[in-house]
Amino acid sequence: MTKLFLLGKPVIKALRGGFPRRLGRILFVAINIGFLQSCDHDAFDGIIYKPNGEIAKPEELSAGISTIFSTVSGAYDTNADWVTGELLTRFNRGDGLYDNSRGVGTGSGNGLGPIFGGYSCGACHRNTGRTTPAWVTGGSGAGFSSMLVYITRKTGGYFPEYGRVLHDQSIYGVKAEGKIKITTTTEKFKFPDGEEYELITPHYEITDWYDYEIKPEDLIISVRAPLRHVGMGQMMALNHDELKQLAAQSNYPEYGISGRLNYVTEKGKYDIGISGNKANHQDLTVELGFSSDLGVTNDRFPHEVGEGQSQMMGFANQGVEISTRDMEDVDLYMQTLGVPARRNVDDETIKHGEQMFYQAKCHLCHTVTLHTRPRGSILLNGTQLPWLGNQIIHPYSDFLLHDMGQGLADDYPSGLARGCEWRTTPLWGIGLQEIVNGHTYFLHDGRARNLTEAIMWHDGEGAASRSIFSHMSKEDRAALLTFLNSL
Ligand code: HEC
Ligand code: HEC
Repeated sequence: MTKLFLLGKPVIKALRGGFPRRLGRILFVAINIGFLQSCDHDAFDGIIYKPNGEIAKPEELSAGISTIFSTVSGAYDTNADWVTGELLTRFNRGDGLYDNSRGVGTGSGNGLGPIFGGYSCGACHRNTGRTTPAWVTGGSGAGFSSMLVYITRKTGGYFPEYGRVLHDQSIYGVKAEGKIKITTTTEKFKFPDGEEYELITPHYEITDWYDYEIKPEDLIISVRAPLRHVGMGQMMALNHDELKQLAAQSNYPEYGISGRLNYVTEKGKYDIGISGNKANHQDLTVELGFSSDLGVTNDRFPHEVGEGQSQMMGFANQGVEISTRDMEDVDLYMQTLGVPARRNVDDETIKHGEQMFYQAKCHLCHTVTLHTRPRGSILLNGTQLPWLGNQIIHPYSDFLLHDMGQGLADDYPSGLARGCEWRTTPLWGIGLQEIVNGHTYFLHDGRARNLTEAIMWHDGEGAASRSIFSHMSKEDRAALLTFLNSL
């Protein structure tokens, strides 16, 4: 056995924190059923062991029993230890459907395009993380961009004949809808102690626009970099009552902070929005991702994107290109990924940096601890994942919307989110992004080249934090960054 992973009553008691006893007991049974399959030869002794044989400390356990102890490039792309047997088979299927480039034409594994943004989920979410954002190479003119360019009319609403995003890729014989061109301007700044930093502002423009009647100037666009897929299952299992409570409490006039939940209507249901940079979706958008990002039709979105375009005539009514069963495996894959444990929690610099994190009030938005609801999560096609239930988790996010100032604003409303509002990005796993993806670009469009730039972009409700950070000594700032890298 490579990884010892034992769970018993004391841990459950800890994991249960705050929930009614009865629900906790139900969960205890549910989890044990899962565990009996995977490690029936192990006695439950209430301890989670690290690969080196040490007992894990509570602060290392980012996501309770879904915590994994990986620090390599596969750290975002590894299943939680409770994923065994049939679940593991489905995890691996989902992983393949997520990563394998889809081919042109019909048949299993195909259906790409005719117009699309990426040739697989993994093309943009490389290693289940963030592919390098395209502003670095000037945009999609030279090829693929990995960014999503949302488009709407100035009057609101999207273009049925275009879809929700700019499809800057196309199969042979079809014209892409346009390309995103990205130029940048750089400004130099100084911290009060004299240390220099720069902020890069990207400027976006759509070129080679397909339509003659709609002018690119008539569009509002919002450009997004892919998000890390750390803690997707936990995010889907969040306790909505706790989030509502958090939104009610998120009011700190002394720091100018007040968060609120996004609400969106999807599948006929008006509910809390949670995923995406503006919390603009209720779930992990698997059906929308296949349809809108890859051009792969499915039961929920049976029409090819851009079907209204004259060049699409020959592609209508080709049938559904991915089954709901397959999409559920992709959903399962994302939700059963392990969440990397925190590292070096006893290091003095990191402990000091953690204090600085609190001192700068980062935790008022990047909420350290949340809980998942007792029943866990339910996948696209009804499969239940009770293992995700009743866990104490450390996402470093309140999943609320905050006004982050004009510098970051995209003037692109989504649900209740206004142009200047963004969802607090969860920070778990952030310290491993460089190992996983080979870069340290952050923020919704990847404009920050490192953690310092990401913090110095905080404005609006984030201005007080930025100011406290910038007035710290160089050592304190460095310690805070070292702490972030331990997440
Ligand atoms: C063209 C690039 C691209 C492709 C292809 C793509 N994504 Fe994404 N994905 C993004 C971007 C950009 C975002 C951020 C969107 C936003 O802010 O609304 C995102 C966001 C997400 C999120 C929300 C994550 C969070 O933390 O809230 C999920 C889940 C997701 N994608 C899953 C998928 C799946 C599944 C597929 C394949 C079916 C896919 N994506 C294909 C670029 C892509
Ligand atoms: C008012 C709420 C708020 C406060 C306070 C706050 N943040 Fe943020 N943070 C956000 C939001 C919202 C985003 C997403 C902004 C975007 O992408 O444009 C973000 C993004 C980030 C990112 C980029 C994450 C990524 O992967 O792209 C980092 C790093 C970060 N914050 C660190 C901090 C630190 C450190 C502090 C304290 C010095 C802090 N934040 C204070 C709300 C806040």
